[in-house]
Amino acid sequence: MSPKEEEGFKKITNLEKAAVYNDIILSILETRCTSCHNQSKKKGELQMYTRQLQMKGEQGGPIVVAGEASKSEMTKRINLRESHDDHMLPAGKCSLTSEHIKLLEWWVNNAAPFEKKIAGLVI
Ligand code: HEC
Repeated sequence: MSPKEEEGFKKITNLEKAAVYNDIILSILETRCTSCHNQSKKKGELQMYTRQLQMKGEQGGPIVVAGEASKSEMTKRINLRESHDDHMLPAGKCSLTSEHIKLLEWWVNNAAPFEKKIAGLVI
């Protein structure tokens, strides 16, 4: 990743002890998504700043379906082509890299764990 793409990301110093959600997934959401989907802005009526709200979603039902990236609104939208109206991030915003997309999909497909450490995962 280029320095610009890494902007805002927490540095992981000890990979064995790093937490999948708090150290990796949350960093992506906080640097790329919660600027629009927060308590006061709620774009698309969606707030994503707590775990419960991510699982709940708003208009279209849950945005994360644990274990099924292809059915999760979150991972569906980040995979749409950029010109599609529903593509996330909206045009003109710093977009996700393919590594970010793969990490989010991998997390959802692995049952979207909140508590696991990298060291405890069987990859
Ligand atoms: C620049 C503001 C902005 C950013 C940043 C942004 N979104 Fe959105 N998002 C919107 C708007 C506006 C809508 C409502 C319009 C629509 O449905 O496309 C929306 C709608 C959504 C919805 C549908 C909500 C529902 O209840 O069905 C999902 C899911 C979503 N965004 C996910 C994301 C994800 C994941 C990210 C980060 C990778 C992100 N968004 C970043 C503006 C943003």
